[in-house]
Amino acid sequence: MKPIPRSSGRLRINFLGPALVLLLLTFISLVGSCTEHEKHSLLRFLTGLSQNGGLPVSWQNSTNCCTWEGIICGTEGKVIELLLASRGLEGQISPSLGELTSLSRLNLSHNSFSGGVPAELLSSGSIVILDVSFNRLNGNLQELNSSVAGRPLQVLNISSNSSPSFGLLDVSYNRFSGNIPSGIGKCTALRMFKAGRNNISGALPDELFRVKSLKHLSLANNGLQGTIDSAPMINLSNLVFLDLGGNRFSGKIPDSIGQLKRLEELHMDHNNLSGELPSSLGYCTNLEIIILTDNKFTGELAKVNFSNLPNLKNLELCKNYFTGSIPDSIYSCSNLTSLRLSFNKLHGQLTEKIENMKALIYLSFSYKNFKNITGALHILKSLRKLNTLLIGANFMHEAMPDDETIAGLENLEVLGINGCALTGKIPNWLSKLKQLKLLLLYNNQLSGPIPTWINSLNFLRYVDISNNSLTGEIPTALTEMPMLKSDKIAADRSDLRNFLMPVYVDSSLQYRTSIQFPRLLNLGHNKLSGVVPDQIGQLKALLSLNLSFNNLNGDIPQSVSNLTNLMVLDLSSNHLTGAIPSALVKLHFLSKFNVSYNDLKGSVPTGGQFSTFPSSSFAGNPKLCSPIHVVHCNSAEATPTFPISTIQYIDKVIFAIAFGVFFGIGALYDQIIISKHFG
Ligand SMILES: *[C@@H]1O[C@H](CO)[C@@H](O)[C@H](O)[C@H]1NC(C)=O
Ligand SMILES: *[C@@H]1O[C@H](CO)[C@@H](O)[C@H](O)[C@H]1NC(C)=O
Ligand SMILES: *[C@@H]1O[C@H](CO)[C@@H](O)[C@H](O)[C@H]1NC(C)=O
Ligand SMILES: *[C@@H]1O[C@H](CO)[C@@H](O)[C@H](O)[C@H]1NC(C)=O
Ligand SMILES: *[C@@H]1O[C@H](CO)[C@@H](O)[C@H](O)[C@H]1NC(C)=O
Ligand SMILES: *[C@@H]1O[C@H](CO)[C@@H](O)[C@H](O)[C@H]1NC(C)=O
Ligand SMILES: *[C@@H]1O[C@H](CO)[C@@H](O)[C@H](O)[C@H]1NC(C)=O
Ligand SMILES: *[C@@H]1O[C@H](CO)[C@@H](O)[C@H](O)[C@H]1NC(C)=O
Ligand SMILES: *[C@@H]1O[C@H](CO)[C@@H](O)[C@H](O)[C@H]1NC(C)=O
Ligand SMILES: *[C@@H]1O[C@H](CO)[C@@H](O)[C@H](O)[C@H]1NC(C)=O
Ligand SMILES: *[C@@H]1O[C@H](CO)[C@@H](O)[C@H](O)[C@H]1NC(C)=O
Ligand SMILES: *[C@@H]1O[C@H](CO)[C@@H](O)[C@H](O)[C@H]1NC(C)=O
Repeated sequence: MKPIPRSSGRLRINFLGPALVLLLLTFISLVGSCTEHEKHSLLRFLTGLSQNGGLPVSWQNSTNCCTWEGIICGTEGKVIELLLASRGLEGQISPSLGELTSLSRLNLSHNSFSGGVPAELLSSGSIVILDVSFNRLNGNLQELNSSVAGRPLQVLNISSNSSPSFGLLDVSYNRFSGNIPSGIGKCTALRMFKAGRNNISGALPDELFRVKSLKHLSLANNGLQGTIDSAPMINLSNLVFLDLGGNRFSGKIPDSIGQLKRLEELHMDHNNLSGELPSSLGYCTNLEIIILTDNKFTGELAKVNFSNLPNLKNLELCKNYFTGSIPDSIYSCSNLTSLRLSFNKLHGQLTEKIENMKALIYLSFSYKNFKNITGALHILKSLRKLNTLLIGANFMHEAMPDDETIAGLENLEVLGINGCALTGKIPNWLSKLKQLKLLLLYNNQLSGPIPTWINSLNFLRYVDISNNSLTGEIPTALTEMPMLKSDKIAADRSDLRNFLMPVYVDSSLQYRTSIQFPRLLNLGHNKLSGVVPDQIGQLKALLSLNLSFNNLNGDIPQSVSNLTNLMVLDLSSNHLTGAIPSALVKLHFLSKFNVSYNDLKGSVPTGGQFSTFPSSSFAGNPKLCSPIHVVHCNSAEATPTFPISTIQYIDKVIFAIAFGVFFGIGALYDQIIISKHFG
């Protein structure tokens, strides 16, 4: 994560001239006498001047630099202010001023300094006010960026310098609030303006669209609002990168977007935009990335002729209200690597034309009214590079194809066909997906046993086949899944490859690798019978194990206490008997535990995480007693407690895992979580 600098304040930028000014507030002044080191730094500054404006007279005559002209010292002989405005100074601003560790105000305005503003000053740990306006400075300001934690700079006045080439301004990852300042229209040389991840509010000022030089405009993740439909974009004809994601914009994307012929990236995700996509978007023929996820867009995608966007690589339109079918023109984007259309109101069937999209790596169209899963899988098998396929909540009540001719998806690492109420068995063709890491088949009506080939999938680490009608016993093959037995990363080199498409957590961060999927096994809500096999204790890498709502009987195996990474253990609503193994107190990471509604007896173990579990974890076991929970020995009545919705709490845990320990997988989980909640 980027450090967020301590400085906070209002982004009031004064645009007195061709460049700009960041303004801010307070500072405090003190008094004292000069150190050798500080004196030396000042003399080096003096040496760098070609016209010294007579400063040496005062500066070289006394050994105490605190008495020199323009210098104010604090209590310990440290220079705290250097005020040399209007001195006729010429030359370079020496980086040695950055060595004045208590300098808080530096005013060099109205001189003839040339060159750049030293990075040492911009990233100084002490300078609060820096005024270098009215000079002949040039150079860029990209140093003013997020890498400097704790930068106290609050006022930066760089206006009215003779060179208009202050082309780059990056103030992202600060805490500036206030509006985009009036006057920005005068920054006629600004090429890049990045102010993402601040607290800037208000509307986009019209004059922003007068800065014709802008190529890169990023205002993502602020509190900006208002419409952009009336905004006169036409003038920004040089724009290559536009990121307004994560704000509160509403209204339509204006037709004038079509004038941005050089646009390569358009990010407007996570706003409140609505209306149809303007057909003029098809005129932005250089577009490579279009991210409009999570808005309120409506209408048919066919409005846009995607054939005119041959460079398109990412098209992400999830979570909108688009209707109609996938327009044929999309299929001509043969370089598309990521197509994400989940959570819309699209319908229809996949057509064979998708075979043209040979570069496709990531495809999602969950939560649509698509039909014909057999046809879809036959078509998709031609996409050799496909890595992630999320097609849940379609194909309602169709039969899961169990057809040996379904092949060719062997590069899939993530497969989600959940929530389709599919009938049939867990199909054998899945056993050919040797790269599979994550398998989601929950919320279907699949019957038959858990296949014994499951342990032949060497990378499979996240299996959710809950809420089906699976029967038979828990096969020992399941307890031999390599990825669940060992948490060694070494066995898992493929994780280090770039395996997901850039997955956008938000518009400023993206993750290219899966890093670590949590290891999870969810067999809940099925019709599994028999005992929990003792060998389950081999799955030492598991973080989450859910066997709830089955017909399992017998004891809870002692070996479960060997699953020391476990954070979630749900055995509720089975017919388990015997005592809760006291060794389970060894599971130090266990934060969710549920054995309710079984036939357990004896006393609940005490100590460890067990002191944190609520009574509901043990409810519905009349023979169970606990000194601290509301389940007493000899009490015939179980405490009536509502069983927690296990799926829901697993979600929360996975969410926490995804964004905590396994931070890097971001939006994929986002999608899984969303799909569960909407499932
Ligand atoms: C410099 O100091 C000397 C004595 O230390 C003094 O005579 C002279 O006038 C001073 N010059 C200026 C310009 O202050
Ligand atoms: C710097 O000095 C000039 C001239 O005295 C003054 O007008 C300006 O306000 C000063 N800048 C700051 C930030 O105080
Ligand atoms: C911040 O600036 C430094 C140079 O001062 C540069 O090395 C670094 O890449 C920049 N960071 C970002 C995020 O732009
Ligand atoms: C530079 O801008 C700051 C903030 O607006 C202002 O206080 C200061 O007076 C300006 N400097 C000059 C020389 O006008
Ligand atoms: C963000 O800005 C708003 C007003 O624009 C202000 O009320 C709020 O306190 C600011 N938040 C932070 C964290 O600075
Ligand atoms: C667009 O640029 C022209 C010419 O520079 C200018 O007159 C016009 O005001 C600009 N339009 C807007 C809306 O800023
Ligand atoms: C979202 O936009 C609609 C108009 O399209 C508006 O009525 C609504 O208030 C906006 N919601 C927010 C939270 O801004
Ligand atoms: C889309 O554009 C292509 C190429 O420019 C053109 O051949 C095709 O007719 C257009 N399709 C529609 C529906 O306008
Ligand atoms: C699409 O990809 C191919 C092969 O990677 C490349 O040769 C071609 O230039 C790309 N086309 C466009 C329009 O980017
Ligand atoms: C399903 O798709 C396949 C292949 O596209 C097609 O042959 C078949 O007729 C379709 N079935 C139905 C019921 O539409
Ligand atoms: C099981 O899946 C069905 C849809 O197939 C769904 O309606 C139901 O709510 C799910 N049950 C649970 C417990 O998730
Ligand atoms: C736990 O694992 C250890 C080491 O693998 C093994 O020796 C022991 O028998 C296991 N305990 C149980 C109860 O299965």
